[in-house]
Amino acid sequence: MAKYYVTTPIYYINAKAHIGHAYTTIAADVLARYHRQQGDEVLFSVGTDENSQKTVKAAESAGQSVGEYADAMALNWKEVWDRLDISYDRFIRTTEDLHQHSVNALFQRLKAQGDIYKDTYSGLYCEGCEGFLRKTDLVDGLCPDHQKPPQEIEEENYFFALSRYQDRLLEYINENPDFIKPESRRNEVVAFITRGLDDFSISREGGGWGMPYPDDSTHTIYVWVEALINYLTVAGYPNEGYEKYWPADVHLVGKDIIKFHCVYWPALLMSAGLPLPETVMANGFLNVGGTKISKSIGNVIDPLQLADEYGPDALRYILLKGTPFGQDGDFTMERFEAIYNSDLADDLGNLVSRVAAMIAKYQGGLIGVDGDAAHDTNKFHEAIENFQFEKALEEISVFTKDLNLYIEQEKPWEVAKEDSEHLQEILGYLATNIVHLAHLLEPFMPQTAAKISNMFSTGKLEQSEGTLFPKKQ
Ligand code: MSP
Repeated sequence: MAKYYVTTPIYYINAKAHIGHAYTTIAADVLARYHRQQGDEVLFSVGTDENSQKTVKAAESAGQSVGEYADAMALNWKEVWDRLDISYDRFIRTTEDLHQHSVNALFQRLKAQGDIYKDTYSGLYCEGCEGFLRKTDLVDGLCPDHQKPPQEIEEENYFFALSRYQDRLLEYINENPDFIKPESRRNEVVAFITRGLDDFSISREGGGWGMPYPDDSTHTIYVWVEALINYLTVAGYPNEGYEKYWPADVHLVGKDIIKFHCVYWPALLMSAGLPLPETVMANGFLNVGGTKISKSIGNVIDPLQLADEYGPDALRYILLKGTPFGQDGDFTMERFEAIYNSDLADDLGNLVSRVAAMIAKYQGGLIGVDGDAAHDTNKFHEAIENFQFEKALEEISVFTKDLNLYIEQEKPWEVAKEDSEHLQEILGYLATNIVHLAHLLEPFMPQTAAKISNMFSTGKLEQSEGTLFPKKQ
């Protein structure tokens, strides 16, 4: 039995989840559920990145203490994932003691390696990114991701000797073509490293909110560095047994945080002598009218509102079907509804209700004969292994349409008049293939898959209440 460790980014808690966050998290959930189906021992982690200065500001404007605010927001994120049926095994908060323990242990290794030194940082810092920027990163003097001028700061910091890892990183990326996906992102990372790596600050001066720097409480650990280490904390590092899950099989991340995951993180791991994650897979952005959905822009769409109206399964399906994973996609309600109506109401929902109705009407609910599973699922599996969720779902659509077409061609309502044996074969074939379809659908639409298999799996039809996906006008 193989192990499979999949992670999502841990989200900042200065805002609530929007569909951009849900998109990555649902994708990770699909991978986790899919690998459980394959019999793998899965560790699937999600969580909250709490030690940021953004948390302090958000707490201030909410009129709460930072601790209270963080507790409430962590709960809020957790509830969102629960309502979207995200089957995480671990929800990590970076304010946990366990995490501090793991960070301290890793820092000892970086220090022992001679990769940490103290110096003065004087340069740019973007609070939106929680990141140090170079002048060449700016566009018209602004951080391109946050459209804000960065702060000019000068402070004493502990530094990590990233420049030492430039060649090793390039070599590693070249030798491991699966390390960074998709290829466009790998090229971007290679270009970034080739331009030259500067050592970077791993602490911030001042001892306020944040994780205390080991051995020097006048500093806090630079939030990105400790946030990355969450992936080790979840695996149980540095305690015995963490190698069961480490290295992670895949970190799913948004395309804006690949520098952290594909440059800083592997360099820190190399310094600590730990193995690197197999793959960092970057998804694109969900946009509205060409602009990234984000709280700072104020164009957020609440995943829970969509889940309430269409059901969590429909949201999960449509988000992954609507935008090829790895690319940017424009989100519109028109498109959302179009996919809902065509794929879910017309094709899948209709297939299930027609077959159930015929089994009830012509055979008194007895399903009878088992048919053969008709579809070749190689392409489906290959698509999931390659993070092409939209392609996997396209395969499912093809199977669904094929089954509907089969009904049109076989015309069971006519066969019912003269050949009950043949009718049994037809309906048995349909029921078997619908159960098969439900199995493929389970990682994407767990509730729907359960309902469908429940209806058709026992030889006797279990009628479900209501329509799976009532058509939206
Ligand atoms: N806290 C860091 C991650 C640390 S991981 C060790 C962070 N948090 S975040 O809340 O700002 O963003 C988390 C993720 O959400 C990022 O991967 C980002 O790309 C993603 N998204 C934010 N808006 C998005 C869209 N509109 N579309 C798709 N993903 C988006 O960065």
